[in-house]
Amino acid sequence: MAETKGILLAGGRGTRLYPMTSIVSKQLQPIYNKPMVYYPLTTLIVAGIREVLIISTPEDIPRFRQLLGDGSAWGMRLEYAVQSEPKGIAEALVIAAPFVGEARSMLMLGDNLIYGRLDFLRAAMAHTDESATVFAYQVSNPSEYGVVEFDTDFSVLSIEEKPKQPRSNWAVPGIYLYPPDAAARARALKPSPRGELEITDLNRAYLAEGRLRAQPMGRGIAWLDTGTPENLLSASSFVAAIEQRQGLLVGSPEEAAYRTGFLSTEGFRRAVEALPASNYRSILERVVHEEHG
Ligand code: TTP
Repeated sequence: MAETKGILLAGGRGTRLYPMTSIVSKQLQPIYNKPMVYYPLTTLIVAGIREVLIISTPEDIPRFRQLLGDGSAWGMRLEYAVQSEPKGIAEALVIAAPFVGEARSMLMLGDNLIYGRLDFLRAAMAHTDESATVFAYQVSNPSEYGVVEFDTDFSVLSIEEKPKQPRSNWAVPGIYLYPPDAAARARALKPSPRGELEITDLNRAYLAEGRLRAQPMGRGIAWLDTGTPENLLSASSFVAAIEQRQGLLVGSPEEAAYRTGFLSTEGFRRAVEALPASNYRSILERVVHEEHG
């Protein structure tokens, strides 16, 4: 399988969360008991992605670095880059070009939360062809999202941003898999009327070449976006309900790195021991003990 690097885009204005975002980045706000960015980062780890570039605003990058470090405690490599202005999601691929090199990239938005069996990510990554992949999630209100229509062989027929008359009920979540030429394609895009390099335009460029696939996520998956106060509250309630029921953590990079094999048992134990006394640490200590006595 070709190497895949992760890009976690965590900048933007976060205007819908004002006034909270006037002092702290949206992706550092709590979802129940963890900073938002933990959840998409954990998703990338579960997908088996060991090297991740975190992109955010000039003001917030130092805080992300303080929170997540260089990744070595989790058997990973984390790097950081600045997006000086929120000039579009597709600009992340241009910014990430030196980091990604000749690898494929999985781009995930820092305010998307995906919960459930993530086999569909590995299924998409198992394709060795030169196509880009968008994921597809069935929703009741497709007009509010990017909407993808695809054939029985999962080749994409159309992709539209917030269409008034959607051609399907399949919304496109904020996670994408791109072949190595994505940065070059993104660089060639013209900014939209709102002045952004649009991710839908990049996907359309692949579609025009017959190189865009759709990977359905399956109805057993929860996909939540956390851009508004209401969504933030529902995402927190969702995580709280699962964690309280199971006594396990949702969105713990330490645990995901251990289960994915980035950390040995000993490495996991060390990572947990380095945490300050907290409920977060106690739950992970239980994982260490339950698995290894
Ligand atoms: P949005 O939710 O579209 O925008 P936003 O986060 O700035 O919020 P608001 O609409 O309330 O002002 O962005 C989706 C995700 O992509 C989010 O995680 C922020 C990120 N993003 C960037 O990092 N840079 C960008 O240029 C854009 C457009 C988005």
